[in-house]
Amino acid sequence: MPRKTTISLIKCDVGSLAGHHVVPEPLFNIAGMNLKKAKEDGLVSSYHVFNVGDDLQLLMVHGRGESNPEIHKLAWDIFQKAADKALKLKLYGAGQDLLKTAFSGNVRGMGPGVAEMEIEERGSDPVVAFAADKTSAGAFNFPLFRIFGDPMNTAGLVIDPDMAGGFKFEVLDTVEDKRVVLKCPEEMYALVGLIGTVGRYMISRIWRARDELLCAVGSVTKLSKIAGKYVGKDDPVMIVRAQHGLPALGEILVPFMHSYFVAGWMRGSHWGPLMPVQVKDAKCTVFDGPPRIVALGFQVANGKIASDDNEKPMIADLFDDPAFDMARREAVEYASMLRRMGEFEPARLSVGEMEYTTLPQILAKLKERFEPT
Ligand code: F6R
Ligand code: MG
Ligand code: MG
Repeated sequence: MPRKTTISLIKCDVGSLAGHHVVPEPLFNIAGMNLKKAKEDGLVSSYHVFNVGDDLQLLMVHGRGESNPEIHKLAWDIFQKAADKALKLKLYGAGQDLLKTAFSGNVRGMGPGVAEMEIEERGSDPVVAFAADKTSAGAFNFPLFRIFGDPMNTAGLVIDPDMAGGFKFEVLDTVEDKRVVLKCPEEMYALVGLIGTVGRYMISRIWRARDELLCAVGSVTKLSKIAGKYVGKDDPVMIVRAQHGLPALGEILVPFMHSYFVAGWMRGSHWGPLMPVQVKDAKCTVFDGPPRIVALGFQVANGKIASDDNEKPMIADLFDDPAFDMARREAVEYASMLRRMGEFEPARLSVGEMEYTTLPQILAKLKERFEPT
């Protein structure tokens, strides 16, 4: 029986230094200490803590399956402790994403974002974890389609017989809370038709069609739906498996050679260019951005993240590479172009996407003053 291993990437904005721009050291320390203990207790077998902007990211590998209450409680408790610390330090937005008070067995629907996959380990299992700040789950529709559906991006779709059968995409309709599975290449046009509407339809899972091998999962939280109002964008995370009959690492990364536009940025209400960065540069500054994305590569091996001689998980910071300088340069240029337009569309999101910001309040205030023409 092949070994089953679970990769859980759970993230939360628990407070930030100097605005919503970066997670400070004391909050990492809380996450690190608690995960160290969880490892000693045998709850997780490997972990890695990092940040993207103001989001604290817990990458955990364990054997307990998806939506495991103990793993979710571990994450929830860490976020609570970190939020308490943030409150003590009077950091900004302390506990921002902790939208519920009592833990209910699963952090889904409580504020934190989750991407989890239970896999049967292959002979060798390369994995990429992506995390972005100042944007939302729909931001991954475009690269996920490029990686798993577009033969002009992924040579393997054309050249590798193991991929020739294509991939199946689970798409969520976040307005009507429904799901549909579409298969590429046969249903490619319908898929693009849906997922081009990035604010509503989101890719949540992808399988290899010929054998249902799970290849990618994304977080699809809608914080505004949980809180009933705008409380920040749903900065997304995703996990993608690579190689050997799946897209190669390079095919997974090549969509990020150019910047592209995502919804989010300042006050979650603007289109902004996504900037691929190393973790060190994953801090949101200019107009609270531009929205940033990091990619961490690792190997899942024998129920753990493959580790070095000192038992430290080996993590590759994949955008720490001059090959992405062009995308970063583009992101800065696009950002300056958009900001020249100020609060005019298409720099600003459309009203529908802003429904949880103050615009409805402005309209409500002016309601009485509108006269028939
Ligand atoms: C967007 C984000 C920031 C804040 C902005 C205003 O997701 O986190 O752009 O919306 O800095 O923040 P407040 O309202 O807390 O002053
Ligand atoms: Mg924040
Ligand atoms: Mg954030």
